[in-house]
Amino acid sequence: MVSHINELPTPAFLIDMDKAKKNIAAMAALCEQNGKKLCPMIKTHKSAQLAAWQAEAGVDGFLAGTLDEAEMLAGQGHQQVVLAYPVASAENISRVLTLAQTTRVVLSLDGVEAAATINAQLVKAGITLDYLMIIDCGLGRFGVQPEQAAELAKALQPLTQLRFTGISTHPGQVYGQSDSAGVATVAMEEIQALETAATLLAAAGFPPAVIATGSTPTAPFAAKSSVITTLRPGNYIFHDAIQVALGVSTPEQCALSVLATVIAHPRPGLYIIDAGSKCFGLDKGAHGVALLNGFGIVKSHPELVLEGLSEEVGKLRATGETTIAVGDKLEIIPNHACSAANMTSFLIAHRSGAVEGSIRIDARSGSRRQM
Ligand SMILES: Cc1ncc(COP(=O)(O)O)c(C=O)c1O
Repeated sequence: MVSHINELPTPAFLIDMDKAKKNIAAMAALCEQNGKKLCPMIKTHKSAQLAAWQAEAGVDGFLAGTLDEAEMLAGQGHQQVVLAYPVASAENISRVLTLAQTTRVVLSLDGVEAAATINAQLVKAGITLDYLMIIDCGLGRFGVQPEQAAELAKALQPLTQLRFTGISTHPGQVYGQSDSAGVATVAMEEIQALETAATLLAAAGFPPAVIATGSTPTAPFAAKSSVITTLRPGNYIFHDAIQVALGVSTPEQCALSVLATVIAHPRPGLYIIDAGSKCFGLDKGAHGVALLNGFGIVKSHPELVLEGLSEEVGKLRATGETTIAVGDKLEIIPNHACSAANMTSFLIAHRSGAVEGSIRIDARSGSRRQM
């Protein structure tokens, strides 16, 4: 049994348990102190074990990015799963119906087409489901404009098996910002959009019981809003180089890292490691942060930039004097921890380097279904 991370074969995905638990506790405390419910977005880690840690700290259900994640959560006995995105195929609607037999499933909808398809299957099954209406607060992905919320609620009203329960948004445009001031501006857009939609809906006879939003950078702002009921952040459990670039976390708070070995030093200033895009992803931020310097943060080596990634190897550039040599192991914080965690079946759990065991990533994309 390996007792220290330095003895691990590489590449290896590491989770610092103390840091992750601290991140979990901090978000739970933020919500509790501000009277908000916490419904963590599970796509960040896709792990039953990490969901259990979050549940221990206090949650009001989970937000699932995929049906695989929702099924994993239901299998673990969690009683409420919100599907972050609409479903629209007969096969996936059937999966929702099966899920609803054991768990409270809340749908997310932003248009009549998918809603009508779902409603038709719900009628046959004799089931009614709650839904949240998705509001676009500036990301330009899902959702109606806040001013159109009441109109959509009216259009969905004839769909007898769908019960309006509230509204939600995701200010993903925050990841295109370049500093804390930009984060604050997006948070204002997020809160304003929900306030506008909630007011118009209430006036039209659809008062939203749930007013939910989720992003790690804007969570401290959303927590202070008097209208928001529920926070749904995801990345906060790990944090990553993108959160560091935005001023949301410090490198010391980042709980997920990739352990790699320096395997070559072909010329001055250039070092090659045995971890590439199949560990880090080629992510520079889902919505384009221009602040990142390379593909990750090399811990304890500010002179090293992870400037290029092939699939299984990475290129490190030394921008100054460095002590590293072939055979050394390096810990690197990925730019986007949510993408990196989906690259592995296990995280090695450690406490300050002392290995404690491994944590399964149960619902990696495509890992739960075979024909
Ligand atoms: C709908 C929705 N809610 C919440 C989140 C969580 O955001 P973050 O990872 O910034 O905390 C996401 C992330 O993509 C999302 O798509």
